Amino acid sequence: MICLGIEGTAHTIGVGIVDQDCRVLVNLSKMIDGSKGGIHPREAANHHAENVVPLMHEAIAKAGISYDDIGLVAFSQGPGLGPCLRTAATAARSLALTLGVELIGVNHCVAHLEIGRKITGCKDPTLLYASGGNTQVIAHSGGRYRVFGETLDIGIGNMIDKFGREVGLPFPSGPHLERLAREGKELIDLPYSVKGMDVAFSGILTAAVQLRRQGRRLQDLCFSLQETCFAMLVEVTERAMAHVEKDEVLLGGGVVQNKRLQEMVRIMAEERGAKMFVPPGSLCVDNGAMIAWTGVVMHGAGLRTKLEDSAVRQRFRTDEVDLPWMKDSF
Ligand code: ATP
Ligand code: FE2
Repeated sequence: MICLGIEGTAHTIGVGIVDQDCRVLVNLSKMIDGSKGGIHPREAANHHAENVVPLMHEAIAKAGISYDDIGLVAFSQGPGLGPCLRTAATAARSLALTLGVELIGVNHCVAHLEIGRKITGCKDPTLLYASGGNTQVIAHSGGRYRVFGETLDIGIGNMIDKFGREVGLPFPSGPHLERLAREGKELIDLPYSVKGMDVAFSGILTAAVQLRRQGRRLQDLCFSLQETCFAMLVEVTERAMAHVEKDEVLLGGGVVQNKRLQEMVRIMAEERGAKMFVPPGSLCVDNGAMIAWTGVVMHGAGLRTKLEDSAVRQRFRTDEVDLPWMKDSF
């Protein structure tokens, strides 16, 4: 069966098409320009509305199939920004109704985990999900994916992008920060903020921006930001792995494309006799293929989303999702 997935929780509108074996036939996306500071949910939704149908047509053409080959339509039901979610959901409902195929609503965070599991071959990982809007440590426990730790304020990617905007880096700032950090020589003290299993980034952002205004070298600040924030992420990830006694760590979200973060997680994993798994970048960021694949998995487990249950869920929590497909895995 071939599934078309539509992702539209925040910046990105994505359309991906996968088959029953998770062969990614196509995975296209368009991101709204976030360089002017944050994203306005309505503007992002308008951007998605303009792009979703052309993206679908392009995806079908690039996959070399026709609409009649689509057997299932999946969409990101939440969590995310209401107007963006509604745009993606409306497109998905219209397509499913037009084609006369079933519809399935997918939790965005679970989709990061499921595509990672399938593509990397790990079985029961602890996921470090570090993106623009989200920073969470998630693992399977007691029949659900549970959030063991998360950011108490902003996502780490948002922090990086806000810092970048203040100091004049292009958007998105992550890759520029990574490049500059390689030229860092001095580790500048920044407020390390781990509270129990959770992390916080706004204090460190304020401190780094102030230090830059005081004339500290940008490369040293980028280096220190990375070292401090990534150490925080590694600490809570390790604590969660120890708690659930798991020996696989999976990375997801746009920030995990950072090579220094990957190196720090790999070292932590090796020291505990565990293994790190990193999907390719195009499947780490928000994308339609992860939604499509999770749709296939859910559909295979007998799940369906009736039209009347397809309303979007802005605060859709990871641990609200039933995981009948995981029952056979343990
Ligand atoms: P979500 O809705 O899941 O929060 P998002 O659209 O905000 O998603 P992603 O597409 O997963 O985020 O990732 C984008 C973020 O990743 C941006 O904040 C960007 O700066 C950051 N990023 C990208 N590459 C790197 C890198 N090499 N190092 C650090 N951060 C990076
Ligand atoms: Fe995401």
